[in-house]
Amino acid sequence: MKKAYILFIIFVWGVFLTSCKNESDDYTDPRGTDYAGSESCIQCHQKQHETAIHSSHYKASLPATKENILGHFENGKNIFVYDKNTKVVMEERNDSLYQVLYKNGKEIKAYPFDVLFGAKHAQTSGYWKNHYFYELPVSYYKSINNWATSPNYSATKPDFNRKILKECFACHSSNIASKYVTTSSSETYTFMGMEVDDFMSKNTLIYGIDCERCHGPAKTHVQTHLKFPDLKKAQNMVSFRNLNRQQRIDACALCHSGNDKSKLKSRFQFKPGESLSDYFQENPRSKDTLNYDVHGNQLGLLSQSKCFQKSQTMDCITCHNPHQDTPQNHITYSKICMSCHQSTKHTAITLKTISKSGLANNCVECHMPKQDSKAIRFQQSNNPAINSYSLRTHKIAVYPATKN
Ligand code: HEC
Ligand code: HEC
Ligand code: HEC
Ligand code: HEC
Ligand code: HEC
Ligand code: HEC
Ligand code: HEC
Repeated sequence: MKKAYILFIIFVWGVFLTSCKNESDDYTDPRGTDYAGSESCIQCHQKQHETAIHSSHYKASLPATKENILGHFENGKNIFVYDKNTKVVMEERNDSLYQVLYKNGKEIKAYPFDVLFGAKHAQTSGYWKNHYFYELPVSYYKSINNWATSPNYSATKPDFNRKILKECFACHSSNIASKYVTTSSSETYTFMGMEVDDFMSKNTLIYGIDCERCHGPAKTHVQTHLKFPDLKKAQNMVSFRNLNRQQRIDACALCHSGNDKSKLKSRFQFKPGESLSDYFQENPRSKDTLNYDVHGNQLGLLSQSKCFQKSQTMDCITCHNPHQDTPQNHITYSKICMSCHQSTKHTAITLKTISKSGLANNCVECHMPKQDSKAIRFQQSNNPAINSYSLRTHKIAVYPATKN
């Protein structure tokens, strides 16, 4: 009797669940009911979606699957030696990936890869433990196609206890909520102005930088256009075209102007059209503008360029398509440079160093040279050399001749 009753309940549940699934509106976004989720944009914005899913923004954080991870797990290329008794080995076990700490040949502990950050030049990872998130001590770098110490980690002592703060997620993901324990038994998720806690609710993580992270909540936009498919003009959606220059810059500078200012509000709350000065306060110590790093502070550097200062219009989207990665060749950029610099006064000495077409196609090579980051350094296994991480500077200027 009892068995039949239970089966009946299961049956009813099954019917209920499948009928829920068929409803178009059953997606709930961890950010709240104002959000529609990126999947919902595809039906009307296929073009933006197709390029965006391959972009670094989309991959700024990723689940640590075998497809997403860049480093090697095969014999030989998966070992980081700290000293003659201590090593960390990158291992695959039952479809899960681990950094395994060995001492004197004995396994001490296996730490899982749970979340990956980045997919272009470097990839750092971390693991969850009781709602805290910890960085793994070994990262992957494309420039050496190998594992090396995570930025600024020791090459002689493995450290699995460094917490990754919510800040990383605030620039590398679309959402993660703090978890506040109110009483010993009941827990509530709240999302308040300040990021005071690194006690996070991993179920609320939205990987990568998605459509609504840049465009703001879009549920009513989606609903309106589904209801009135003939509307050609965007409804309930901030248009970047109608924003002023500072607003457009702020929408990118949220994550591209360094991390040394005092925070007034959480980065996660920012919406296009808002002013960054409501979110951050200039830190008097960071006035040392000569030391802006090529990593993470594109706006700081660009602001020091005459191009930026003397032009009325230049912003990030002058040169970047926000839905697509930077193109591999520099010809594209040269064309953008030349849209403002129809004629350039290069001296005979400069002209002698390079062919005419070389000069025309390579503005970036000479005027935005690669520079080493002072913030990010790493070491390879069994190698005392300190490697630095280099990116193009956004301070567009005349530099002493670079060797090509
Ligand atoms: C049912 C169709 C539909 C869906 C779904 C939809 N949009 Fe739109 N969207 C439109 C139409 C129509 C326009 C106006 C024409 C255009 O710019 O493509 C538009 C325009 C936009 C614009 C440009 C606004 C401007 O004026 O510059 C943005 C940004 C945008 N949508 C974002 C989104 C996002 C993000 C999602 C998913 C959360 C989404 N849309 C889902 C129909 C839709
Ligand atoms: C929420 C934070 C955030 C916002 C807002 C943001 N970015 Fe980014 N952006 C990142 C992060 C993080 C990366 C590095 C992603 C990675 O490789 O892991 C990145 C990477 C990039 C890249 C490198 C892409 C490549 O070729 O690999 C460009 C260019 C860029 N952003 C431009 C912009 C522009 C332009 C805007 C404004 C329209 C913007 N970003 C807004 C966080 C952000
Ligand atoms: C203020 C925003 C910001 C914060 C905070 C931040 N990042 Fe980034 N991160 C960026 C941007 C922007 C880039 C890409 C361009 C660059 O290097 O300037 C980047 C690049 C990276 C890359 C290389 C990605 C690639 O595809 O090559 C990794 C790995 C990374 N960050 C990890 C982290 C980790 C781990 C943390 C926390 C400890 C963190 N980031 C905190 C903005 C941020
Ligand atoms: C890094 C921030 C960022 C992300 C992520 C992003 N957008 Fe955009 N989007 C912008 C900016 C900035 C513009 C304005 C571009 C311009 O005016 O040239 C824009 C413009 C648009 C437009 C207007 C037409 C066009 O292409 O200029 C649509 C539609 C749109 N985005 C949809 C989307 C959808 C859908 C997604 C997710 C698949 C998405 N965006 C992800 C920043 C972003
Ligand atoms: C939106 C227009 C615009 C774009 C795009 C632009 N510039 Fe400029 N650039 C300017 C202006 C305006 C000046 C200042 C000219 C002056 O001082 O008379 C300038 C100045 C310069 C200078 C002189 C810098 C100095 O310190 O004396 C160089 C070099 C330069 N630009 C190179 C470039 C390169 C390379 C690119 C492409 C990566 C580029 N510009 C893109 C507008 C632009
Ligand atoms: C005058 C053109 C120009 C402007 C304006 C510009 N960038 Fe760039 N950006 C470049 C070039 C060129 C590169 C190098 C691309 C490469 O080497 O593939 C680049 C690379 C980047 C990268 C990737 C770094 C890397 O090596 O992966 C990021 C992130 C970025 N830009 C962000 C921004 C942001 C944010 C703004 C606005 C504050 C901005 N850019 C304004 C030309 C520009
Ligand atoms: C081989 C390196 C090199 C390349 C490539 C190059 N420049 Fe220059 N550029 C220089 C140097 C060096 C100077 C300083 C004047 C001189 O010594 O020729 C300069 C000066 C300038 C100036 C300031 C002088 C003026 O005309 O007002 C501008 C603007 C400029 N370059 C833009 C560009 C643009 C745009 C491109 C690409 C079409 C480009 N440069 C390609 C090296 C280069």
